[in-house]
Amino acid sequence: MASSKNNTMVFLFLLVTLLIGSSSAQLSTSFYSKSCPKLYQTVKSTVQSAIKKETRMGASLLRLFFHDCFVNGCDGSLLLDDTSSFTGEKRAAPNVNSVRGFEVIDNIKSAVEKACPGVVSCADILAVTARDSVVILGGPNWNVKLGRRDARTASQGAANSSIPAPTFNLNRLISSFSAVGLSTKDMVALSGSHTIGQARCTTFRARIYNETNSIDSSFARTRQNSCPRNSGSGDNNLAPLDLQTPSKFDNNYFKNLVNKKGLLHSDQQLFNGGSADSIVRSYINNPSSFNSDFVTAMIKMGDIRPLTGSNGEIRKNCRRRN
Ligand code: HEM
Ligand SMILES: *[C@@H]1O[C@H](CO)[C@@H](O)[C@H](O)[C@H]1NC(C)=O
Ligand SMILES: *[C@@H]1O[C@H](CO)[C@@H](O)[C@H](O)[C@H]1NC(C)=O
Repeated sequence: MASSKNNTMVFLFLLVTLLIGSSSAQLSTSFYSKSCPKLYQTVKSTVQSAIKKETRMGASLLRLFFHDCFVNGCDGSLLLDDTSSFTGEKRAAPNVNSVRGFEVIDNIKSAVEKACPGVVSCADILAVTARDSVVILGGPNWNVKLGRRDARTASQGAANSSIPAPTFNLNRLISSFSAVGLSTKDMVALSGSHTIGQARCTTFRARIYNETNSIDSSFARTRQNSCPRNSGSGDNNLAPLDLQTPSKFDNNYFKNLVNKKGLLHSDQQLFNGGSADSIVRSYINNPSSFNSDFVTAMIKMGDIRPLTGSNGEIRKNCRRRN
């Protein structure tokens, strides 16, 4: 008696799961193959010219996808400007004076709208743009899963609390990634993104002046030359996250960590006697395992809570809801 009641419950549960599941479609690599066959070439040529104009832009565009996906999923919420009804994510603590590339996304969106009006979401444009940036700077290629729709709102509070800070220790880094379903290995592989791009003095000042045990002293001195001790002066002075090849997507970032030349506190946490050390070592010994773990993790990150089916909308302008 009890067991047949249990069976009925299990059956109903499975039925409901099936019904809910089928109303939110899966992302797929062929999502726009009929509706926007020119999507890839359109995005790629715009990304290409933006990077040609300024190499760093490839890094900035990759970071946009990360900062979008970690805040209520990959839904283009990061791209929304503030409105009278909500404060957006652009001025949240991890983003203000820091994330960049919105004009490039605008250019890509206009080009895509010209090719296929009203079809491709801003959230998907971020995913393709991130992949193209990595490839153009010499990193691995992969097929991007698509079919995300765009959020109608954004959350400054969620951006403040969901994006990891450079002051985090290893445990907090691990838990902020696990909160969105990403493993420690995913976290280390994705941090390999710091093989490209720049950081402001204010994000690494405390490390280069105070973390004497975990930083190479000559590296610290070099960085101090363009990042004064007292806050307020030189806050926005830039330094490369990968001191050797900041415009090339390679595994030098991990080599720097082993030499105590990680720029951010959070970078050096990945090689500081803890559980991530062995992953860092493996990416130095075997660059192709870095590339394949990076691709796996980028695809996993792109799967964070997408809006699909009839949820959200396809924005016409990435900066505002329709
Ligand atoms: C593990 C936790 C992470 C922390 C604490 C972190 C923190 C930071 C910080 C503080 C900066 C410099 C920002 C500035 O000075 O304005 C930065 C830059 C950057 N981050 Fe991360 N990050 C993390 C993970 C990631 C991930 C997962 C990606 C991509 C998948 C990424 C991609 C980048 C890129 C490409 C830049 C350079 C951007 C540019 O030059 O415009 N980061 N990150
Ligand atoms: C987010 O952080 C910014 C900058 O620190 C702060 O001004 C703002 O009040 C915070 N917003 C929310 C909603 O927590
Ligand atoms: C270094 O640590 C000292 C003592 O905790 C602190 O007063 C100082 O502000 C720190 N310096 C930087 C540049 O963070």
